[in-house]
Amino acid sequence: MIADLIIINASNVATCRDDQQGAGIIENGYVAVKDGIILEAAAGSPPKEWIGENTQIIEAAGKTVTPGLVDAHTHLVHGGSREKELPLKLKGVPYLEILKMGGGILSTVTNTRAASKEQLKEKARKSLREMLINGTTTVEAKSGYGLDMETEIKCLEAALELDAEQSVDIVSTYMGAHAIPENFKGNTQGYIEFMFDKVMPYVAEHKLAEFLDVFCEEGVFSPQDTRVIFQKAREMGFKLKIHADEIVPLQGAELAAEMNAVSADHLLAASDKGIEDMARAGVTAVTLPGTSFYLMLGKYAQARKMIDAGVRVAIATDYNPGTSPTESLQTIMSFACFGMKLTPEEIIKAMTLNGAYALDRQQTIGSIEKGKKADLVIFDAPNVDYIVYHYGINHVDTVIKDGKVVVKNRQIV
Ligand code: NIG
Ligand code: FE
Repeated sequence: MIADLIIINASNVATCRDDQQGAGIIENGYVAVKDGIILEAAAGSPPKEWIGENTQIIEAAGKTVTPGLVDAHTHLVHGGSREKELPLKLKGVPYLEILKMGGGILSTVTNTRAASKEQLKEKARKSLREMLINGTTTVEAKSGYGLDMETEIKCLEAALELDAEQSVDIVSTYMGAHAIPENFKGNTQGYIEFMFDKVMPYVAEHKLAEFLDVFCEEGVFSPQDTRVIFQKAREMGFKLKIHADEIVPLQGAELAAEMNAVSADHLLAASDKGIEDMARAGVTAVTLPGTSFYLMLGKYAQARKMIDAGVRVAIATDYNPGTSPTESLQTIMSFACFGMKLTPEEIIKAMTLNGAYALDRQQTIGSIEKGKKADLVIFDAPNVDYIVYHYGINHVDTVIKDGKVVVKNRQIV
């Protein structure tokens, strides 16, 4: 058999396989690819008979290979930006206060409604390029800045169209339950019925989203609202995600376990019982340390406690204009390390295999093993510790998507 592409002499290959401790590091290894699929990753040199005339050989001495990074929680498609909220934030006005004043999410809703689909796509396209150059090969994208039927559909269609036109794979989530729109203020039930009757059937029928997410938070959707929305969503075939216990503890983690959500996200205020429930139910915890940092919350999700309790922990950017305006998972690695005290190996696994679990893609992506998609990143760093330690810059040298080089020398090819 002849391979299409082989990365050779890599100082470290972080395989991130499920059956291995830490990030499953192979020293001085190679990764061979054929037809967009991983053939093998092992120490030493590849078998001679795999190398043909047309085999592309990539020398990776002094470099580290990881699976393509999986960003399992973003609000990719939206209009405008919110740097004007900075002075309020610095004065100490809390996030939920800004939202109550009609700012926050609702100001992005105004901008998103005003933008055309093409304008939204152009902005998101820039973000996707940034993500790819920084090593992200799969990203989850939530709607939730439209809230009305037309804009939610516009955003979900934009994500689907972007998925088809560029390298980063996009997994879509409908998040109409992100805020109560102005025209339903004080009438949450009315808004929920509107989603049930109008938006969710359309999204399901046209396969615009695989997941459904709810912002379960004080002053937004209560746990009881969330349960009702989840029941309906399940009937319609959506997989579930929840913004849980982000600011106020509302037993969102417990609810995620009860409803068999694929993931529960944020979890800063998750209870010990919630953590145990998630471990038992196999709910992946998506922690978002960039949000803790950006909201100046002075606290992070208890990722160490979760790991010790047997919860699978993923880490994502939460890329959005209000609480985490960054596309870079490498930036988030620093917050995960210094804020949540996770090791670089735990962090890499949380951004690859565990991210794949959070998107129900663990069968096809997230680790370097035979039969999985050849989504790979070569970092110009001798080991994974170095990537996290030397923070604030982009270490990505090469990105391979479905077996093809899509970023080379830090440039999109
Ligand atoms: O994940 N928490 C709710 N939603 C987003 C923030 C949205 C916004 O402020 O625009 C989040 O943090
Ligand atoms: Fe979010």
